[in-house]
Amino acid sequence: MSRFIDELKRTHRCGELRAADEGNVVVLFGWVASRRDHGGCVFVDLRDRTGITQVVFDPAYAGAELWTAKHGKLPEDFDPKLALEAHGMAEQMRTEWVIGVRGMVVSRGNNKTTKIATGDIEVIVLEATIFNKAETPPFEISDDVQTREEIRLEKRYLDLRRPKLQHTLITRHKINQATRNYLSGQGCLELETPYLVKYTPGGARNFLVPARMAQGKFFALAESPQLYKQLLMVSGFDRYFQIVKCFRDEDSRLDRQPEFTQIDIELSFTNQSEIFRLIEGLIFAIWKEALGIDLKELYPSGQFPEMPYEEAMGKYGSDKPDLRFDLPHVDLTDLILEKGGGGVPFWAEIADRYKSGALRADLKPEIVKALVIPAAANLSRPQLEELEKGLREIKGFRGLARAKIAEDGSWTQSPLAKSITDEARLAINAACGAKPGDVICFQFGKETLVHTVMARLRSDVAKRMGLIPEYGHGGKWSFLWVVNPPLFEYDEETKTFAAAHHAFTRPVDEHIPLLETDPARVNCYRYDVVLNGFEIGGGSVRLHDPDVQQRVFNVLGIRDQDARDKFGFLLDALKSGAPPHGGIALGMDRLAMLLSGAQTLRDVIPFPKTNQATDLLTGAPVEVDPSQLAELKIKSLS
Ligand code: AMO
Repeated sequence: MSRFIDELKRTHRCGELRAADEGNVVVLFGWVASRRDHGGCVFVDLRDRTGITQVVFDPAYAGAELWTAKHGKLPEDFDPKLALEAHGMAEQMRTEWVIGVRGMVVSRGNNKTTKIATGDIEVIVLEATIFNKAETPPFEISDDVQTREEIRLEKRYLDLRRPKLQHTLITRHKINQATRNYLSGQGCLELETPYLVKYTPGGARNFLVPARMAQGKFFALAESPQLYKQLLMVSGFDRYFQIVKCFRDEDSRLDRQPEFTQIDIELSFTNQSEIFRLIEGLIFAIWKEALGIDLKELYPSGQFPEMPYEEAMGKYGSDKPDLRFDLPHVDLTDLILEKGGGGVPFWAEIADRYKSGALRADLKPEIVKALVIPAAANLSRPQLEELEKGLREIKGFRGLARAKIAEDGSWTQSPLAKSITDEARLAINAACGAKPGDVICFQFGKETLVHTVMARLRSDVAKRMGLIPEYGHGGKWSFLWVVNPPLFEYDEETKTFAAAHHAFTRPVDEHIPLLETDPARVNCYRYDVVLNGFEIGGGSVRLHDPDVQQRVFNVLGIRDQDARDKFGFLLDALKSGAPPHGGIALGMDRLAMLLSGAQTLRDVIPFPKTNQATDLLTGAPVEVDPSQLAELKIKSLS
């Protein structure tokens, strides 16, 4: 062991050697990816994170004459004894053993391959060492591994040896480096904020951490550095960033983990467009560094398009529309109200509720939406039913009404065909731009449910039509800013307003007077950056003005004491000379997932949690000894 590593230093990584290296003596370390014994001559594919090199243990080369006959010049310090010993080792080697070799780079002659980057050469071993043996792995270390994900997560350290995952984590490293370089260059300071913080209700559900030194009390794990980064602005740090872990005790989804990483940013003396330009620059830098792609070719102005939140919801039913394809929604609510329901009993009921004032016409809590599946999609009836089946996963979904447009514009294959009036049908066909052979899908009822169903339908149809792949970018990058959503959410049942995001978002200047007269129409300087239908970041310009802050609290019905209890420290800080400020956080894991075409966040996080928020590798979370709980004065009820 001591000769290798101590004396024989590694000269190359396993993915580096090329034809230009032929004739050189090299030292490689790595794992046995595969081993083939060709009647005496042993071929090993040696793997490290950079790739694979074929190394050859040939007993014949223990003879100097044979060597010179085949490869010409013999390495000066050639020792037949060491070469034979190495061959003996190779006969024992198994996959995943960790070895070191010293050998000469030679051409693969007629056996060159383009499958690996080092395919022009092989290394004829002069001497070798076995650093460590390995038990037979429970699954093959290769990219087309079929093993269940649970097993791969249990043995994640083996799973992480797969080239694809290694590549992904290397990409993550590049994203981190590009981020640090770019943001430091933009005058942002990388500062840290605490993970153990005060629990504040609202927002994401926090993980709680018992405080041993203050019995009966708890810290929360920070869901984001939000309040602290604002305090850093109050302290005068001017521009901040952090690549930071955040913790949220929410149900996991393919794009959500309980423990995830944000690229978190806050700027003083700034506005929305300045923040947008900084983030666009950052994303350009990341794409360049991680993928070698120049996004300037797609966005020559250097800027991503902006879309008001209302337009995104209206046209696509989502605040994160995927604009790699069109397929817009058509909002038929006004048309249906105008036609008193157009003969369709359900629609007539909605129209009546608006007429009687039971529903507020200005807020449109119930709507009717359509989506046209073009004839060109060529979807059969069973395929349409299959689409509907997918929608059943959505809570509250009760069915999708459809109508196929006949040559004369009438509707077929539709439960609505009998009741709809001719006038309403023609108006709907025209509003939807529907042509013979097209299928119109309808959804009506509570606004949020209609949006959710139709947004999912839109993306499922696009996948069916091959407009986008099942997952992954498909070579298309569609960035978008979704801007200025409402500041408040209205709760029909309690007839009260709640902060749609958080209470410290600045209302759009022109809407400040509406705070007292029409809060539902107050939009704010909040924005999300969207890529291919995923929200990759979100932020806002903050409310630093105590007067407007108080007026927002009034709308929310937050009394002074409540506000003090929840965020007294921030309110005090904002009164102590807070500069105008704003910021954003990018979801680093989502960026890595989309950029690398991975299917879930789990594929881009070295040690992820399952959908049940467990760690299969270590078995966490685990029960703890009752004495540990007693020390914390905690009793388990489970
Ligand atoms: P927000 O909650 O929108 O904003 O989060 C910012 C971005 O973080 C990513 N993200 C997640 N990624 C993986 N798993 C999760 N559970 C998860 N939750 C969020 C998303 C999201 O866009 N403090 C504010 C930012 C600000 O206002 O400056 C915040 O945390 O990509």
